Amino acid sequence: MIPEEALKKQGILDERRHHPQVVLLPVAALRSRLGRRGNQAEWVYSKSMYPLKKGQVANQAHVGLPPGTYEEEHGRRGFYGKSAHLYHTHPPTGWIRFEGKLRPHCFDLNKLTPPDLRDPDGGPVAFLGNRDVKVSVSRRSFPMPFLFRNADGDELYFVHRGEGVIETDFGPLPFEKGDYINLPRAVTYRVVPRTTDNFFLIIESQSEFEQPEKGLIGHHALYDPGVIITPDPAPALDDNTSQTEWEVRIKCENQFSKVFYPFNPLDVVGWKGDLTVWKVNMRDIRPIMSHRAHLPPSAHTTFVTQGAVVCSFLPRPLEEDAEALRVPFFHRNTDYDEFLFYHDGDFFSKDNIKPGMATLHPRGIHHGPHPKALANQGKKTRTDEYAVMLDGLNPIHVLPEGEGVEWADYWASWQAPQPVGAKS
Ligand SMILES: [Fe+2]
Repeated sequence: MIPEEALKKQGILDERRHHPQVVLLPVAALRSRLGRRGNQAEWVYSKSMYPLKKGQVANQAHVGLPPGTYEEEHGRRGFYGKSAHLYHTHPPTGWIRFEGKLRPHCFDLNKLTPPDLRDPDGGPVAFLGNRDVKVSVSRRSFPMPFLFRNADGDELYFVHRGEGVIETDFGPLPFEKGDYINLPRAVTYRVVPRTTDNFFLIIESQSEFEQPEKGLIGHHALYDPGVIITPDPAPALDDNTSQTEWEVRIKCENQFSKVFYPFNPLDVVGWKGDLTVWKVNMRDIRPIMSHRAHLPPSAHTTFVTQGAVVCSFLPRPLEEDAEALRVPFFHRNTDYDEFLFYHDGDFFSKDNIKPGMATLHPRGIHHGPHPKALANQGKKTRTDEYAVMLDGLNPIHVLPEGEGVEWADYWASWQAPQPVGAKS
């Protein structure tokens, strides 16, 4: 329950006095006041109308579907806005052919060979992007022989595989599998892997990666800020090296410039303030769920940035309620393109997906569980998957490097035979 103090603070009690309709729609009012998604506040002022119901429906979304139907959530604003549930007699992914550009995509990113895989002087390879975010893979096998500074955007490194340290202006930060490492724009850093088989997913954003507002679930849900790790100063004075100059490679407007120093510029002996390099490991993220109804992906939001959100899907018990859906519901994205990177575990709701693969589901086309997962959902009690989702507000484009590792027939992967009218 929301304490009265909080309601007063948010001005909701006052609104009740002057606008009686808010009394009828407290959840919508609370959502608009408390459920902001970082800097995308404009998205949350969505007043529900009232529930219209026609034909055969479930009264509670994702629970107790009418027999023989497939539920689709047709929602706005990334599960925050208005929505309708449509009860289909066929799975919405039961298509037989596509024409034109729009279709679901799947990539085997294990097949990418970024220049930094073999050349210490090389860099990552970008395979997707839009005007807000760019997604790349680095397979850096050797320590950077230079320092790097990205003046084009903030970077979020996700460590799919590998161990080592990132040396930064703020001090060294050790990294390991499952780390999300936040490198603010224009921080100077150097990746020094200890292992040779490494795999980093890098999301570059035009703006900062911030923590989502957690609203009703409180500051310590998902992860406690106490698990965040920041670096301690460790100036690299390099007194005993024969190195005579240090290169800082700067990316600005996608062009590289170099500045050279006769000393190691990672020489900071102390830092203070509220801007720094920081990391959180996936194992420290504790997902929330309901044992009685499937929660939308937005319940798993880890970071927000301008034009995109990052969510983490982690192992958790599945819904216990006998009538509750245990797999993601069908939906056609309306306001977001959805990129999903499969990190580890058993990807129950999708066939033929292995760690290191990724999907891109563009707005306007449905996606949802594969037929086998839908049929077997009643037998599962837990999900054991680790995945990183990036939802982009603007259309995300596949770059040529992505096209080169695409599974061309992915769109047909929902085509396993299934009886028409089977209960989902
Ligand atoms: Fe989705």
